[in-house]
Amino acid sequence: MANKVTLTYNGDQTIELPVLPGTLGPSVVDIRAFSKTGMFTFDPGFLATSSCESKITFIDGDEGQLYYRGYPIEQLAEHSDYLEVCYVLVYGELPNAAQKVEFEKTVMKHTMVHDQLTRFFNGFRRDAHPMAMMVGVVGALSAFYQDSLDINDPEHRKVAIYRLISKIPTIAAMCYRYNQGLPFNYPKNELSYTANFLHMMFSTPCENYTPNPVLVRALDRIFTLHADHEQNASTSTVRLAGSSGANPFACIAAGIACLWGPSHGGANEAVLKMLDEIGSVDNVPAFMEGVKAKTHKLMGFGHRVYKNFDPRAKIMKQTCDEVLNELGLRDDPQFQLAMKLEEIALSDPYFIERKLYPNVDFYSGIVLTALGIPVSMFTVIFALARTVGWISHWNEMISDPGMKIGRPRQLYTGAKRRDYVAVTDRK
Ligand code: ACO
Repeated sequence: MANKVTLTYNGDQTIELPVLPGTLGPSVVDIRAFSKTGMFTFDPGFLATSSCESKITFIDGDEGQLYYRGYPIEQLAEHSDYLEVCYVLVYGELPNAAQKVEFEKTVMKHTMVHDQLTRFFNGFRRDAHPMAMMVGVVGALSAFYQDSLDINDPEHRKVAIYRLISKIPTIAAMCYRYNQGLPFNYPKNELSYTANFLHMMFSTPCENYTPNPVLVRALDRIFTLHADHEQNASTSTVRLAGSSGANPFACIAAGIACLWGPSHGGANEAVLKMLDEIGSVDNVPAFMEGVKAKTHKLMGFGHRVYKNFDPRAKIMKQTCDEVLNELGLRDDPQFQLAMKLEEIALSDPYFIERKLYPNVDFYSGIVLTALGIPVSMFTVIFALARTVGWISHWNEMISDPGMKIGRPRQLYTGAKRRDYVAVTDRK
């Protein structure tokens, strides 16, 4: 394989650009020397551009493969659990038995938030979107945990990483409870990470609440499937914010803001809204006509990288089956409608030609609804799960001695130089 490409420009001038191989996936052309030509490259949306080197997550979009630190997502979803996946993402290896116990103990010991932080919520309207509160409250962590903000100190970075993984479920549950007008629940550290989250969401002081193990496992799997996804929009946002030296809590708040968009983390919320709008199976053909006329998109379908199938969607569909069976909801009309939409779309040439398949969010919304989690909390659940991915990427970037501030260039197509005109002389 060629280890360099030669580029001819301005007719007869040439420049050689090295080709860098990865351990998996396509090689990349190192274009850092390209600016010597006096030009820049142009790639809006990063369709052909690698923004960084990373050892964390690998995706093969054509083959439908997703590996965290080399471990296939199917194996992690079946044999591991979310906290172990967190360890793998942060440290790069599976923990041994002692490391696993120590990690779980440390994470579960720091689940409480500073008491003053709980009062922060009073400043929000009761009907504030929980993602709006997440952006604000997670950003505010930097005001509460000032002893872990020195990004050049590996120990500070480690403390910030643990704090984020430990406290994000507590903050997420607080957003929900605030919306509901319910008192905040303190964490119960003897529970598992995911069971504790369900406890903080749904316990009341008036009656005992025992999380159903099938539902705990399903939510844990949702966390695992959303834990990382290489250089997606929100992860790239975290990296870009972090490249200026911003503190980790501020960077994660930036990631949460990016995730909120309907093309990214807002997709499963959009799927449920779409199912509500369609209403019944009878309305599916008319809805599909609208999709083909590009009046609206089929939410939960398509992916920038997966152009064959989304491996997370397969696991999520199976999880969806398990949860609906456990709760006796197999005949749920919304689920039946979703299955009909999937069936029609997968056999329609419009979707086949464009390689559009269900993504993880097509099913995750149905599972989350069955768990009793309201639609407005869906993206919050995603943010909770993705925090470990974001912070692992942030840590990888900061640990790289060659790190540079992210500063893209542009193709300028605005006005040429012109002189200021006094307001009295303007037409
Ligand atoms: N419904 C209908 N048509 C679609 C859809 C869809 N969901 N997605 C893509 N298309 C069409 C486009 O209109 C385009 O058609 P054209 O070639 O006739 O112009 C073609 O398929 C290619 O689409 P692009 O938008 O170029 O694909 P891109 O890779 O840029 O977009 C994206 C990916 C944003 C995810 C898109 O598929 C989409 O908006 N899907 C719905 C939202 C969604 O489910 N997002 C979740 C992503 S997964 C996640 O964040 C966990």
